[in-house]
Amino acid sequence: MEKTSLSQWNPDYSSNLDFFDSQNRRLVTIMSQIQSIYESGSGNFLPAIKQLIHFLTQKFHEENLAMMIAGYPDRSKHIEEHLAFVTKIDDFLMDFIISDPDLGHSLLTYLQQWVSEHIAIQDVQFGQYLNNRTDLKKRVFDLHQELNKPPLLYVVNA
Ligand SMILES: [Fe+2]
Repeated sequence: MEKTSLSQWNPDYSSNLDFFDSQNRRLVTIMSQIQSIYESGSGNFLPAIKQLIHFLTQKFHEENLAMMIAGYPDRSKHIEEHLAFVTKIDDFLMDFIISDPDLGHSLLTYLQQWVSEHIAIQDVQFGQYLNNRTDLKKRVFDLHQELNKPPLLYVVNA
């Protein structure tokens, strides 16, 4: 697969919300790492797949909550797309476990499609919705701040 601009950040992906864009930039960085692994021929996609699982689980959780807090009208379809993505990444994990030789190509193709069809359209539309509603934008930003604080540690005495 040829190097593609979809593995690099593009202003068309921007929702004009800094905290939102920084998360999507991170996904594009992971894609770039996957492309490098693909080009190296090592086939060691597991660390990148694990990053996708851990990072996106948190990101989707936050984004889904933000859409609910903001009363975003199109949230059902948007949340369904997040769920479909999580399921698909699980499929890719299984493909890694069974050493599917097409994994790298399939993974990159799917992620590039996600960027152009979800981030550049669905996420941008949610950003536009929030940017038109200052009060909701503040509430969503406060949620982001709260969710991204270091977790509390509970110490249990034995
Ligand atoms: Fe989204």
